Amino acid sequence: MKITVIGAGKVGSSVALNCSLRELGDVLLLDIVEGLPQGEAMDINHQLAERGIDYTVRGSNSYDEMRDSDFVVIVAGVGRKPGMTRMDLLKTNAEIVKGVCNKLKNNAQNSKIIVVTNPVDPLTYLVIKSLGGQKTNIMGMGGMLDLSRFKEHISSVTKISRDSIQALVISEHGENLFPLVRFSSIGGIPLTEFITENESEDLIKKTKNIAAEVISLKGATVYAPGNAVSAMVESIVKNKRAVLPVSALLEGEYGCNGICIGVPCVLGSGGIEKIIELKLNETEKKFFDLGVQSVKNAIKSLSF
Ligand code: LAC
Repeated sequence: MKITVIGAGKVGSSVALNCSLRELGDVLLLDIVEGLPQGEAMDINHQLAERGIDYTVRGSNSYDEMRDSDFVVIVAGVGRKPGMTRMDLLKTNAEIVKGVCNKLKNNAQNSKIIVVTNPVDPLTYLVIKSLGGQKTNIMGMGGMLDLSRFKEHISSVTKISRDSIQALVISEHGENLFPLVRFSSIGGIPLTEFITENESEDLIKKTKNIAAEVISLKGATVYAPGNAVSAMVESIVKNKRAVLPVSALLEGEYGCNGICIGVPCVLGSGGIEKIIELKLNETEKKFFDLGVQSVKNAIKSLSF
């Protein structure tokens, strides 16, 4: 497997590290900044060498080298600063991602593409439209990250092992992300059996706000996003067919047409092999629709 990561900043390097630790393939780390991807690659390889992992990470400044990649992970773009929302990055990062798409056109026609650059939902749509690629091959990472935070909060409230928790987050990876308490469980038992209504509301609020808190404390989120991307790559590389929340192009599902947004999907060697349509109740649908509206507005403001 050849996994190309475009953008060798903190998140891109974390993606490279996590894919290597899961032994998913060789990684090509690309960046326009000279020296940065090469230095990150060396540092990661030194860790892999000690662990006896023979996959390698290579750093480069040449986009041509991504030819024949099985995966391309797009991380290029600016991150949000304290006080900003992900949507505030739309104009700047759309231009950067358009530039990346021009490089991809010649080099990655058959690759699976995972978009990480924020705001991830409208930018995933932008990549699908720019490349005219198969929608099953192009997806965005957001829900996996929100899910990992939701799990952490559930574990700390219930004092039960993180390993026993199954959870789901849908909608926009942004101000309207929506943790689905009703579709989450602990050891197969509905989560609602373990927490009160107030705790449930608190969990939702915390899951929504925690990324901004991390950013205000350390400037960026790094390790959780790197892991979240590698979990998606793993499900595809190993054809695990895991059910994971993914920003996928909806064409009729959930009553939506022509937007990318977080929904549970089966990820296997065919990419997004199935979009699972949940029967949302009225309240859940109301919150999901807020995300849909926000992503729709963002897509409308983009030029293709
Ligand atoms: C986060 C940003 C990177 O949720 O979207 O960590």
